[in-house]
Amino acid sequence: MAFKMLEILCCPIDGQPLREQTGSLRCESGHSFDIARRGYVNLLAASDKRSKDPGDNREMVAARSAFLDAGHYLPVAQKLNELVSGLAAPESVIVDAGCGEGYYLQQLSLGWGDSGPAMVGYDISKWAVQAAARRFDATWLVASNRNIPLADNSVDVLLSIFGFPSYESFSIALKDGGSVVLVTAGPRHLYELREVIYPQVKVSESGERRLAENAGFSFQQSIGVQYQTEPLSQLEISQLLHMTPHLFRATSEGRDKAQTLDQFSVTVDVVFDVVCWRN
Ligand SMILES: C[S@@+](CC[C@H](N)C(=O)[O-])C[C@H]1O[C@@H](n2cnc3c(N)ncnc32)[C@H](O)[C@@H]1O
Ligand SMILES: [Zn+2]
Repeated sequence: MAFKMLEILCCPIDGQPLREQTGSLRCESGHSFDIARRGYVNLLAASDKRSKDPGDNREMVAARSAFLDAGHYLPVAQKLNELVSGLAAPESVIVDAGCGEGYYLQQLSLGWGDSGPAMVGYDISKWAVQAAARRFDATWLVASNRNIPLADNSVDVLLSIFGFPSYESFSIALKDGGSVVLVTAGPRHLYELREVIYPQVKVSESGERRLAENAGFSFQQSIGVQYQTEPLSQLEISQLLHMTPHLFRATSEGRDKAQTLDQFSVTVDVVFDVVCWRN
């Protein structure tokens, strides 16, 4: 079976198109990338790595998978599906930039059924992409936002869900009129947990929409989803901490306090900003 969406994949070293050749993808200059047994390809150039094992580590990926699979962020996925169904058509190409372990792209794919858009997910963490490739059959890549190995003007909708967007690379990969859905934490996101782990809680908005506009994107719409989770167990609170930057930012006293929480409900406050790219 041919590697899905091969026609838009590019060599991360020189940008040339890739061809499939006995278990690997190759460009004309001979750069070669093995197709892993699980069906993903590592297209992360050595020059795009800032550390030996970039992105989320194995433990963070496992924590996020368990937490998301328990359905605590299902309303977020549902809102995303609703939004994307208004931006994409069955012939579109949807790319999840910093896809993590693939939960949101899988929810999108389930929402569209068999005749939906082509789905590509990439993440700089090989652990995340390995987990994503186990979820469902899509085009999964280890790659960086800083050097997206996709053809110029090839993407209709780009998702950046709690991600680290690189607007210049996004604008190159997007078709004229293509959109980026920026999913960020709203001011009250996980408020109750932040009250426990920080001496003082900042209630601020993400600056991503402004950064996108500064990079030449035009703002289209913004919607939000807010709700209270079911009471979370001690293990789920720990998973939640492991999947957010709060684990690293919290004081050690705050982390200790968080470990004692049980049957603890938190606010989910997520903002979806849609910005559009015109060449
Ligand atoms: C907070 S997680 C969000 C994952 C997923 N979108 C979700 O919401 O479940 C951020 C993700 O960005 C990835 N990441 C960090 N830097 C990246 C980069 N330069 N390019 C692509 N992915 C990156 C991390 O490995 C991690 O999986
Ligand atoms: Zn090459």
